[in-house]
Amino acid sequence: MNVLDSSFLCLDIGTTAVRGIAHRVRAARIVRSAIHSVDSTDTVFALKAVIDELERQIGGHFDSAFVTGNFGPMTFDMSVQNTRWGTEHRITPGDVRAQIGKIKAPDGYYPIHIVPLRYDGNAEKNMSTPVSRIETQLTSVFGVIFYDNARLAQIYGYLRRAHIQAAGFFDPQFLLNFTLRARHENTLFIDLGGAHATGALWTDRGVVWMYKTRTGGNEITRRIADDLGIDADDAERIKRSAMTAFPRDMDRFTPADPAYDFSRADIGDIAMPAMTEILDEIRAAAAAAIAKYHPAKIILSGGGSDTDGIADYIADIFGIGVQTVGPDAAVRALGDYVWGTQAAHVRAYQARRDAIAQIGTRLARLWRPRRRRAQSIPILPSTLAFNMRSSQTYALFRAGGISMIHVDIMDGFFVNRVAGGIDELKYIRAHTRAHLYVHLMTESPGVWAADAADAGADTIVVSGGTAGVRAAITEIHRRGRRAGIALAPDMAVAVLKPILREIDDVLVMSVRPGAGGQEFIPDALRKIRTLAATRRKYNLGFRITVDGGINDKTAQLCWDAGADALVAGSYLAHSADFPLAVQSLLKKHE
Ligand code: DX5
Ligand code: ZN
Repeated sequence: MNVLDSSFLCLDIGTTAVRGIAHRVRAARIVRSAIHSVDSTDTVFALKAVIDELERQIGGHFDSAFVTGNFGPMTFDMSVQNTRWGTEHRITPGDVRAQIGKIKAPDGYYPIHIVPLRYDGNAEKNMSTPVSRIETQLTSVFGVIFYDNARLAQIYGYLRRAHIQAAGFFDPQFLLNFTLRARHENTLFIDLGGAHATGALWTDRGVVWMYKTRTGGNEITRRIADDLGIDADDAERIKRSAMTAFPRDMDRFTPADPAYDFSRADIGDIAMPAMTEILDEIRAAAAAAIAKYHPAKIILSGGGSDTDGIADYIADIFGIGVQTVGPDAAVRALGDYVWGTQAAHVRAYQARRDAIAQIGTRLARLWRPRRRRAQSIPILPSTLAFNMRSSQTYALFRAGGISMIHVDIMDGFFVNRVAGGIDELKYIRAHTRAHLYVHLMTESPGVWAADAADAGADTIVVSGGTAGVRAAITEIHRRGRRAGIALAPDMAVAVLKPILREIDDVLVMSVRPGAGGQEFIPDALRKIRTLAATRRKYNLGFRITVDGGINDKTAQLCWDAGADALVAGSYLAHSADFPLAVQSLLKKHE
């Protein structure tokens, strides 16, 4: 999703209703919102009707949506994972991911949320984040919410038939916790749904208890229909209008519905025992958790939360105050959650840009009187050609006015050779303040990118065509770094089209990745021109960097084609006068 300029759709798919909320985003702000719901047990029909209406109101077309709702049977587990290294080890995000990878779902279930609750090291208990600590062992406790595979498959089917793709599934209580729970306030969430009622207890650390009842509001409807001999639709309608948790004498004589001769009290006599059973089931299941965590309040949601007097009734049974948030709460929370995570990303992105721009102007102001060129030199020496463990290299770079270094990393799989690596990157980071532009010639770009970000990379470029490029870009941005994609000589510019808006840099490879000292492939010039033209046409912001076979002749061809920065390895390394060689690569004419 392009967060700066888009529309997004959030759906709450229940058994008897579909609710949707859509937001239109322009220039990183929500400029229009619409909410709509359709009651029906025909979920595909309800989905289509909701989507059509929201598209009409928002004025756009959605083909993907974030989804919450009734995902059927659920189980909740606390998963404890232990890793021992024996010797001292710096804990990385990869270690935590490896522990998450070991969490086993029960048969037929799928983990929807994995919430880290606690980390213990050998020396220290309960550390808030284990990353970047040195320990000999790591124990993590995760709260894991698993949902039924079969029901998820069914929901995928509904979405497919409504021509919508799921962008992510979110448990409703997870969302309500995110938007409604006050900090430091342990809260019990109760959702009165059609197929089930759900209880969940959330603390600042995460979810500590979760439970789904065997039946829900549909069972109440079924009993009304059976006992009174009416059809299900009528029973549902009458339940909603006549059911009350606190029947008065008058209800004995008040007809529940003009079409029938039974009274409101007759409905209450059938409905309330069923409702009480459901609530008792939650209360019994929650007893231990309530005794341990003392929730400050209950937040009540779902279709059944509309029942007259139900909040007071629940407050009585549980002895805890109730706040009713109504049937739309989950879908609203989903909208807020999606926007909250995206908006943070947008803000971070903008703040970064502003900060960089500010530093740039400040430096420019400072340097202008003394130096003719205020901008940093757009020439990046490639680490492949230099000994980065030698202090002479750094002195050379300083003398040449270098402010950006191109760090090549090869994993031996994406290319045959192994070169660079995270340790070398850390070493370089420790020895220079230059902008580190990391070029990952690796498979599993997401894993490498996360490690490179931790090691101090400023720009991280992953190799196009590897698996997981998009996720890696997201991860790089999440960590506040510039993200780019390298375009190999055999790859067309067109493959980047869907993602150009989301990246900060395109690295045009003008040699086959894998070795320095190769000859410049002229076809790269055509790609640079295409990229420059595309950028102009769509007003995009990525920079074009060229890598491979750069010398004083090919450099000028690249500048003329529209390049912003050039990487040079062997040409610079073999020059007799490094600063002079750097100068010879700069743009000669406008
Ligand atoms: C090639 C690397 C380049 C290389 C450039 O796989 O990505 O960065 O070091 O070296 P020269 O300038 O020698 O082609
Ligand atoms: Zn490179």
